[in-house]
Amino acid sequence: MADNLISSYTQEERIKTLIYSDAADACSHVATEIASLIRTRNEAGKATVLGLATGSTPVRLYRELIRMHREEGLSFQNVITFNLDEYYGLSGDHPESYRRFMQDQLFDHVDLKLENTHVPDGLVEREDVFTSCQTYEEAIRAAGGIDIQILGIGRTGHIGFNEPGSDAQTRTRLVTLDSLTRRDAARDFLGEENVPRHAITMGVGTILDARKLYLLAWGEAKAPVLAESVEGEPTDSIPASFLQQHDDCEFCIDLAAAGHLTRVRYPWLVGPVEWTPEMVRKSVVWLAGKVEKPLLKLTDEDYAENGMADLLTEKGSAYNLNIDLFNITQHTITGWPGGKPNADDSSRPERANPFPKRSLILSPEPMDDVYCLGGTMHRLANQGHDVTVAYATSGNLAVPDPDVRRAIELIMEVGQERENQDDIGFARSVEEQLNAKGQFGEDTRDIRHVKGLIRRGEARSSARLLEIPAGQVRFLDLPFYEEGRYRRFKWGDADVSAMVNLLEELKPHQIFATGLGHDPLSVTSICFEVLRAALNECANSEWISDCRIWLYRGPGAEWDTHEIDMAVPLSPDEFEYKIRGIYQHQTQRSQSPSTLRKSGSDSWNLASQLNRSTAETYDDLGLAEYEAIEGFKLWNADKPE
Ligand code: GLP
Repeated sequence: MADNLISSYTQEERIKTLIYSDAADACSHVATEIASLIRTRNEAGKATVLGLATGSTPVRLYRELIRMHREEGLSFQNVITFNLDEYYGLSGDHPESYRRFMQDQLFDHVDLKLENTHVPDGLVEREDVFTSCQTYEEAIRAAGGIDIQILGIGRTGHIGFNEPGSDAQTRTRLVTLDSLTRRDAARDFLGEENVPRHAITMGVGTILDARKLYLLAWGEAKAPVLAESVEGEPTDSIPASFLQQHDDCEFCIDLAAAGHLTRVRYPWLVGPVEWTPEMVRKSVVWLAGKVEKPLLKLTDEDYAENGMADLLTEKGSAYNLNIDLFNITQHTITGWPGGKPNADDSSRPERANPFPKRSLILSPEPMDDVYCLGGTMHRLANQGHDVTVAYATSGNLAVPDPDVRRAIELIMEVGQERENQDDIGFARSVEEQLNAKGQFGEDTRDIRHVKGLIRRGEARSSARLLEIPAGQVRFLDLPFYEEGRYRRFKWGDADVSAMVNLLEELKPHQIFATGLGHDPLSVTSICFEVLRAALNECANSEWISDCRIWLYRGPGAEWDTHEIDMAVPLSPDEFEYKIRGIYQHQTQRSQSPSTLRKSGSDSWNLASQLNRSTAETYDDLGLAEYEAIEGFKLWNADKPE
């Protein structure tokens, strides 16, 4: 077992699954395997055939292969590649085509011969698709078959673009994309309506023919479908589950993506566990949910019948356990997220002193703050704390073009009324840049600037509602975001020093942040890594020893109840405030009414569902009944997450 593996326990699992502490470790394992095969083949004068995937998931793997090429002389001269899939209707130079992605992420940086790289042709005529797919299969066979196939997984359980319904015999073909898949790609295409409806993909059967398979997955969003693929019956409703039929397939995943595997989620069900306080809390809360009883009504039989007899022996009786857990959960609840001044704080989540506190709310993009902790922000401001909201990135990539047109028309009109040639000239120039870029072109600096300003306005307006003074709303505009695009961000020293400057200026007593467990290439996760690096740089500053870091989970998710160290209940009125705060982010409305109709929800009511469901769980556990709850977890940087 490699040192960097969290565990390699495989009971219940039908596919060999290796859980790594992070994506970097997993990628270095897979890159080493690939490199060693290439070297062996190169020495024997033989070619290596690689099956490649796109998406955020393999990006780190490709970066590692590029590094090995540059620093360790790994040669790709004798490597032949076949990509899994391509969007139908996109040419190879379209910014979102998989051909272009591969060129940018790997092919252009190593000594691969262009003629040895294969990506299905997205522009083939409809009547030629069948032949073209057969030719693709034939080319794979002619190359000797795929030695190593890299795979990611979509949230529908798809591999390549084999959506639910694809059986194990399918071959390379034209497919229709699932609506969830199209929604997941909407951000890249700046709107779901721009995402192609079809794709050409290798079939599940084509994939199963490869000699060795590695499936990679990072981040909690993949956890549910991953567990179903590994532990469930093989079924065409989760095409990745057919990988169980392959005798040399490894899943290499990070801890967040492993979160729904039985051995991670309910370890007491599969073997002996160490009953740490966290494990006890996790298991008892799970038990209450399973038997549908409040904590104080759990019986000895409930524990014994659900794999927790040894816990009972250790703690004496259900009675003791129940009371302990009730008290622990009760003490997470507080209406004073900044601590209650002049009160006994021995069993409160946040300390009473100092008061007021300097509270820093770090939001990866505008809206993440109010979406996840708008109620708490309002409370903190109302209770007299010195609250600063800092937006790490401008969020300008998420603003649709029509909103920019509206903004520049306004600038133009004001300019004309006041005869200000500078404003008129600027508005005209941005309009021309918009016209020139077309539907899929990249935004120019000016366009991104205006988009950023629009989001600033929305963020200020939301903060105003939450009673946070305009002077305490800060925009860091971290360079990694301003200079990058989705899936291609790279952060560095300039980002960290901007964060260090903010921290050293504010010297916060508490920081609210998010990003742990998210897809490592996501904006949210990168912002967290920047914060982590900045905190390391500030390690010797005095303020840091008196600073607590509260993690919020979202956007789009909430902590499980057993993970919550501070639960801030919201009254119906306060909840209303929060929702109004979210409404200020008008450019972030779901852009497509049909998506809204189909999913029945957009970010605004998703936030309310999450907060309401946390409140319901507290209620079910036998605690007080609230309208909504925002949950936070205390981060201890020294402990593994
Ligand atoms: C797309 C690709 C898949 C990929 C999936 C997950 O659908 N066709 O091959 O595995 O997205 O993408 P990501 O890695 O960005 O999560």
